[in-house]
Amino acid sequence: MESLIFRIQREADIYVALSAGRRLATELQFSETDRTRVEICILELAHNLIRHAGGGEIEIMPVHRDPAMMGIAVEARDRGPGIPDIDLALRDGYSTTHSLGAGLPGVRRLMDEFSIHSTPGVGTCVRAVKWHSTRRP
Ligand SMILES: Nc1ncnc2c1ncn2[C@@H]1O[C@H](COP(=O)(O)OP(=O)(O)OP(=O)(O)O)[C@@H](O)[C@H]1O
Ligand SMILES: [Mg+2]
Repeated sequence: MESLIFRIQREADIYVALSAGRRLATELQFSETDRTRVEICILELAHNLIRHAGGGEIEIMPVHRDPAMMGIAVEARDRGPGIPDIDLALRDGYSTTHSLGAGLPGVRRLMDEFSIHSTPGVGTCVRAVKWHSTRRP
């Protein structure tokens, strides 16, 4: 299985990425709950690309720590305005667009690993990983 990259410019693009994420999670025999977590992650990060960055791309990658521990990494990259204060953006209820402000903090809670790199004026990269819950060594 190889990684897949999706350009995200409009809402329809999100569903293409979502179904690819679901397919990979199914192939890796993720539980129903973890499949849904990966989908929510893709959905929220893709929405942010459209809403806050004028589009970008989502990469969905199978990853492994050792042959027995598989996971899925989701990376959202854009060349948008960047996030000046990442701690603030990760706070529940913080939104610059009068939305719920639940996307980034929600993704952080749902996934096992989460990181944001952002440079104002250059762009943002958000990466999240979900590990297979029953194949931990
Ligand atoms: N890719 C991005 N580029 C620039 N700013 C971003 C990006 N993603 C998030 N942000 C900033 O971080 C804030 C918090 O994001 P978050 O997804 O938590 O909330 P939201 O998108 O505003 O609302 P919700 O996701 O609940 O509808 C956003 O309001 C926006 O200011
Ligand atoms: Mg959001």
